Amino acid sequence: MTTTLITNAKIVNEGRIEERDVLIRRGRIERIDTSISAPAEEVIDAKGKHLLPGMIDDQVHFREPGLTHKGDIHSESRAAVAGGITSYMEMPNVNPVTTNATALKDKLDRAAQRSFANFAFYLGASNDNLENIQRLDPNLACGVKVFMGASTGNMLVDDPNILERIFADCPVLIATHCEDTPMILANETRYREQYGEAVPIEEHPNIRSVEACYKSSSFAVDLAKRFGTKLHVLHITTEKELALFEAGPVAQKQITAEACVHHLFFNEADYATRGALIKCNPAIKKKTDQAALLQAVKDDVIDIIATDHAPHTWEEKQNAYFKAPAGLPLVQYALVSALEQVRAGHWSLEKLVEKISHNVATRYQLKDRGFIREHYWADLVLVDLDGKTKVSKESVLSKCGWSPFEGIEFQSEVTHTWVNGALMFEKTVGVTENQRGVALEFDR
Ligand code: DOR
Repeated sequence: MTTTLITNAKIVNEGRIEERDVLIRRGRIERIDTSISAPAEEVIDAKGKHLLPGMIDDQVHFREPGLTHKGDIHSESRAAVAGGITSYMEMPNVNPVTTNATALKDKLDRAAQRSFANFAFYLGASNDNLENIQRLDPNLACGVKVFMGASTGNMLVDDPNILERIFADCPVLIATHCEDTPMILANETRYREQYGEAVPIEEHPNIRSVEACYKSSSFAVDLAKRFGTKLHVLHITTEKELALFEAGPVAQKQITAEACVHHLFFNEADYATRGALIKCNPAIKKKTDQAALLQAVKDDVIDIIATDHAPHTWEEKQNAYFKAPAGLPLVQYALVSALEQVRAGHWSLEKLVEKISHNVATRYQLKDRGFIREHYWADLVLVDLDGKTKVSKESVLSKCGWSPFEGIEFQSEVTHTWVNGALMFEKTVGVTENQRGVALEFDR
């Protein structure tokens, strides 16, 4: 294993930015000091650049098994490390769905062979796998995913008695997709009557409406309060829902909330130029919702920033409204897009690091990750805030070969990514092909 010395890096960690050297040995951070002289096979002068704990993305869809024409563990984790993501937590709406321990173990085996980043997987809830949830080994899955609204895949849990049992008995954190399906179906019928199949994409946030989000999120929060559940509500998109969550440090919360990079970056004006490429569930909504989300990150109402990376092929996305699938590929440009919000003055760099790394590690009880600390794993990303990242079809590493950010030039650049101390990405060389990540471990 390579010994690495990173010198003169501006380390962004635990609310501070300090220039330090970092010595990495046997995959872990051995020392952090003002000046380290130690023999190392790899020495990186990071003068002028910022060293962050790698992004831990708590919501990705890598499509394996069964949907691998859209993406797979190898292709999407490769794109992730190029974007500064060192660990990810992957969703169960694949084929077959990940609703039992055997399916979870199959994914863990696949990832051990083929993942560039560290990994964990959610167990998916369904209307008929309550026993699998009750018996789940808390070290086998990062959490249980409950689709309280239907989205890609057929994983809706809508039996109220089952939902109560899941919220009462789940041995790990529950992560929910909240949109009320009956309200959405009624909206779809209304818009079909008006437009037939040719519903304009601009209507997506009216079909997947604020009210549908609020009804479902408030139901989830009510259930969690009744049963004392550890609840994490994924991809909040509306100002109205923010009132359901409290401000404060993540360690003190039983109920937490996530926002995703695309809901923070785009708003409904972007449908005009990007069309169904930015169709996702829940929908990208108004500028006022976007502004409220940006503020809620700053105010610690939103605890975690993630991607909901959900690739579909270019051809699939060219379909008319109802047939164009929801979801966008995001992992490769998530961090630079979030750094754009720092540049715009919405948050400090320290706050961003809290949301993409510290808080994720705390919330999911990850062992020895998410902070730049001696003896922790060396999952690190070096960013150049004077660099540029221009997004084009040619630069995209995701299997689908397109990005919602095409044509945009971000005002920062990921130059190096280390996963467990191994240099997994270097901008002038690309991704290191022969290294693999490991399964995330939990302190539970
Ligand atoms: O837009 C989305 N796409 N939202 C989801 O909840 C699922 C995802 C997918 O898997 O395509």
